[in-house]
Amino acid sequence: MFIVEKEPKSMAAESYRILRTNIEYSSFDKEYKVIVVTSSEPEEGKSTTAGNLALCMAQVDKKVMLIDCDLRKPSMHKRFKVSNLIGLSDVMIGKADLTMATHMYNKNLFLLTSGKISPNPSEMLSSKVMSYLLESLKETFDYIILDTPPLKVVTDAQILSTKADGTILVVRAEKTKRESVKNAVDLLKNVNANIIGIVLNGIDASRNKYDYYYEYKK
Ligand SMILES: Nc1ncnc2c1ncn2[C@@H]1O[C@H](COP(=O)(O)OP(=O)(O)O)[C@@H](O)[C@H]1O
Ligand SMILES: [Mg+2]
Repeated sequence: MFIVEKEPKSMAAESYRILRTNIEYSSFDKEYKVIVVTSSEPEEGKSTTAGNLALCMAQVDKKVMLIDCDLRKPSMHKRFKVSNLIGLSDVMIGKADLTMATHMYNKNLFLLTSGKISPNPSEMLSSKVMSYLLESLKETFDYIILDTPPLKVVTDAQILSTKADGTILVVRAEKTKRESVKNAVDLLKNVNANIIGIVLNGIDASRNKYDYYYEYKK
């Protein structure tokens, strides 16, 4: 369950709505359609952020495709409680049709789970097929949200950032080290990723006014 659905009136849910608004309003000159959600390390809240953001975009009638691009440690199928028998990796190798592989969560939110664990995720994600897939999805969807593995561990999120219009970096409050954040920003800058915002996830609500705090960079 995601907090924007479970507790829509919470401060945390409100923060995701602020994040959504910021993305919407920053798409003046250039449309931010394909958005990567990543972080430096595991367990910082990438999937939590990607899921909540996708859901709250869908709540305002945007057509959203959420793709689990963490082909090494996928989690979206568990979070949304759907099957992962076929998904992104199967579509990529031509073993499954996109429409067949896509789950319709509600009238606006569609989910493409990771599919079978593939032996070469980086090659798959950097392939032209992936670029074509994103380009074709842009015609149907307002937003395509990509959940990714950690930057520190593999190059997948860096690769995907080059194919995306914007990248959101998640930082876990009181866990992620300063060096780690700097390293993540450097890795993204190295590939000229467009960092559109940083999400500070998991601020202690008993000590702070906000559960989540979203800092907008540009
Ligand atoms: N702000 C938060 N407060 C409490 N638990 C959280 C918070 N953000 C994430 N979690 C939990 O921490 C775990 C890791 O989060 P997840 O989003 O899967 O991280 P990642 O995708 O970066 O590995 C999950 O069990 C998730 O439910
Ligand atoms: Mg994850």
